[in-house]
Amino acid sequence: MAVKSALANRRILVIGGSSGIGLATAYAAAQQGARVAIAGRDAARLKAAADRIGENVETYRVDISKEGRAKQLFSRVGKLDHLILTAADGVFKPFLDTDRADFSGAIDSKLWGSYNTVRYGVPCLKRRGSVTLTSGCAAHKPLEGLSPFATANGAIEAMCKTLAFELAPIRINTISPGIIETPVFDGMPKADRTALFRSVGRAVSIGRVGRADELAEAYLYLMTNTYTTGVVLEVDGGAKLARKPLW
Ligand SMILES: NC(=O)c1ccc[n+]([C@@H]2O[C@H](COP(=O)([O-])OP(=O)(O)OC[C@H]3O[C@@H](n4cnc5c(N)ncnc54)[C@H](OP(=O)(O)O)[C@@H]3O)[C@@H](O)[C@H]2O)c1
Repeated sequence: MAVKSALANRRILVIGGSSGIGLATAYAAAQQGARVAIAGRDAARLKAAADRIGENVETYRVDISKEGRAKQLFSRVGKLDHLILTAADGVFKPFLDTDRADFSGAIDSKLWGSYNTVRYGVPCLKRRGSVTLTSGCAAHKPLEGLSPFATANGAIEAMCKTLAFELAPIRINTISPGIIETPVFDGMPKADRTALFRSVGRAVSIGRVGRADELAEAYLYLMTNTYTTGVVLEVDGGAKLARKPLW
């Protein structure tokens, strides 16, 4: 007899689901029988992603960094079982070259995005629902040019634990990805990207950068495991176990 997936018929919204880790997660959830909705800013990107994920995928246009837009989204979206945030924007720049606007990109999309998602999304969740936020390895391993992301990621991880305490029985968890090959690196010159992936691959225990589908499995775990809350799950190929200093 076939085993029924814990995600069958569950309604899931992935904000950031039109690319990379969010798209892979939405796809994996749909494969498990979930009813999937994805949100992002660009309509064409959302449509292309929805077509890739499968049939009956709902799409919502939102800039999650904007409080008013987040409120509007959650007033339209209806009841949800699980909510995932993977949206992020911002620049990679050495700190002394940044201005406040540069620094705000990551903070607005990731930290205020997390605030808006939890603040306005939790009332849409069923009682046993979950939220999974996304931080990132910049909070733990310094890399030049990532200070805005490091700041946003660290704050998200700190916030997650308090929210898990305060909002229980809703479960709130955070995934901290290592370096994962996704379209976020498409803007980099190819030679720089290859060099970055090689040096990270040499440094982490698993010996390579990660794939979006490997991250998707971690989001599926946090949605379905009913006894996990308040954790920051590092899915980074063993960056902290590396024998060499990381990058
Ligand atoms: N890839 C890595 O190596 C890595 C490492 C550490 C942490 N992370 C974290 O993992 C998460 C996913 O990264 P990824 O590599 O999958 O990125 P990605 O491929 O660039 O995807 C980002 C997604 O977020 C959406 N988005 C961006 N800003 C948004 C906003 N303000 N409102 C709504 N949607 C927005 C994008 O669509 P639109 O642009 O159309 O809105 C896109 O769907 C991010 O939090 C990132 O910081 C990634």
